[in-house]
Amino acid sequence: MAVESVRDLQVELLGIRKHFGGAQALDDVSLRVAAGTVHALVGENGAGKSTLSKVCAGVISPDSGVVRAGGEDVVFRSPRDALARGIATIAQELALVPGLTVEQNVFLGAEPRRGGLLDRKALRRRYDELAEHVGFDLVPDSPVSSLRTADQQKVEILRALSSGASLIIMDEPTAALSREDTELLHDTIRLLVSGGRSVLLVSHFLSEVLELSDEVTILRDGRLVRTSAAADESEASLIDGMLGRSLDSVFPGLPPAPAESASIVLSAVGVHAPGVRGVDITVRAGEIVGLAGLVGAGRSELVMALVGASRVRSGEVTIDGEPVDVRAPSEAMRSGIALVPESRKEQGVVPLRSVEENATLASLATFSRAGFVDRRQERAAAGAVLESTRVRAASPRAPMSSLSGGNQQKVLFARALLCGPRLLIADEPTRGVDVGSRRAIYDLLVEQARAGLAVLVVSSDIEEVIGLSHRVLVMRGGRVTGELTGADITDENILTAAFLDTDTNKGADS
Ligand SMILES: Nc1ncnc2c1ncn2[C@@H]1O[C@H](COP(=O)(O)OP(=O)(O)OP(=O)(O)O)[C@@H](O)[C@H]1O
Ligand SMILES: [Mg+2]
Repeated sequence: MAVESVRDLQVELLGIRKHFGGAQALDDVSLRVAAGTVHALVGENGAGKSTLSKVCAGVISPDSGVVRAGGEDVVFRSPRDALARGIATIAQELALVPGLTVEQNVFLGAEPRRGGLLDRKALRRRYDELAEHVGFDLVPDSPVSSLRTADQQKVEILRALSSGASLIIMDEPTAALSREDTELLHDTIRLLVSGGRSVLLVSHFLSEVLELSDEVTILRDGRLVRTSAAADESEASLIDGMLGRSLDSVFPGLPPAPAESASIVLSAVGVHAPGVRGVDITVRAGEIVGLAGLVGAGRSELVMALVGASRVRSGEVTIDGEPVDVRAPSEAMRSGIALVPESRKEQGVVPLRSVEENATLASLATFSRAGFVDRRQERAAAGAVLESTRVRAASPRAPMSSLSGGNQQKVLFARALLCGPRLLIADEPTRGVDVGSRRAIYDLLVEQARAGLAVLVVSSDIEEVIGLSHRVLVMRGGRVTGELTGADITDENILTAAFLDTDTNKGADS
């Protein structure tokens, strides 16, 4: 199918209900996505956004209600059925085949053939045509496993386009993207829409929602709150609708920065590791240090070295003055370092185990006596921390896979806290987390700092870094290129340090 052939497709969902066990995930929700528009779906974690998207995409069947595509009632038994009607989806957790190339993934199951054989030339022609249409510059022969998230997403978009999709459902597409990649995706969305396609966009970034969408639908507890023109909403009005209450501020007040004399918890001197080229940092007890920088600046690499996921080649790391040599992530906790990882899918969630077990996974030793786990104690500890992290699950015994994306993230947070660390490292701690819970996570981080922990927050969200840090370190090219405190912690200063080579003249940007 040629890239240009787009049908004007209006998709309607009418009176959709869906329950999982005793939980009503969707309760009489109706929604219409008009052709050539961006329709945003917002709501707290667990509100039912992904479930509604999956109904629309044919991934799950509703208990009742009607799906109407192009004016006709349709019943989707699989995503393939939805695709045949022009509806494609880019899931919250990407679903590509890692061993295959970009091109193979784009045309998976729909390869052009000649006399039963794969027509490689035709394939490449079609690939080039598609990629050019949206201005993507991916190498068609690279294996998708070698691509970063932003590029894997592009592959998913190309796949949707190659199948002639008119409505593309995107579930938190920018949650894992850097600032620049987010801009690129926004451009792509605008391009799709100007060509007559439509996008159903699930996002926790309210500024993004207001900027991109024509209409916004708010869900709360599986119910429709309202659908309105984006132009008639503001961040505050969306938050009110999502939470059913107002939130005066996303960020809690910070306790005062610890004095120079406060004890140093983390000290890293001259650390060299893969992607890290000589880093010195200290974090004091009670201090929240933000680590900013662009993707590839070395922030995650530094974190990996600190928690033993990569090898520290030289330099010294101490915790409370004691030298530590963490050689594996499992050893980090013993040294007093806990990490809330960046990617919940790859680094931590055990989908088939219960929420409770996922929470206590790293701290089982604490609840064990003579090799036996004291389940009672484990339950009690898990229960308390799951509550303080505001995890919403049917029960602590529910499988992790039954939780919404944001709630899974909160369980990983609970896991780190249960380890009782001295240094808490949170890598993109609020990715995919709704505004209300985001505030709860910030409150927790501040509480930990108040209790004397050293907190290191890695974040691509500049607002988050500014709102939460006593001190900000900016990395670039594997080094720390800027250190900001107090009133110097500004958007502009952070970006300057992130983009500019500090070795060269600072005026070079003008
Ligand atoms: N496969 C499942 N089994 C059991 N319960 C489920 C399943 N999928 C979703 N749920 C439940 O349905 C409700 C809605 O979940 P959904 O994933 O749609 O939320 P969401 O709005 O996408 O949240 P988030 O912002 O965290 O991604 C939640 O209570 C969730 O626990
Ligand atoms: Mg979701």
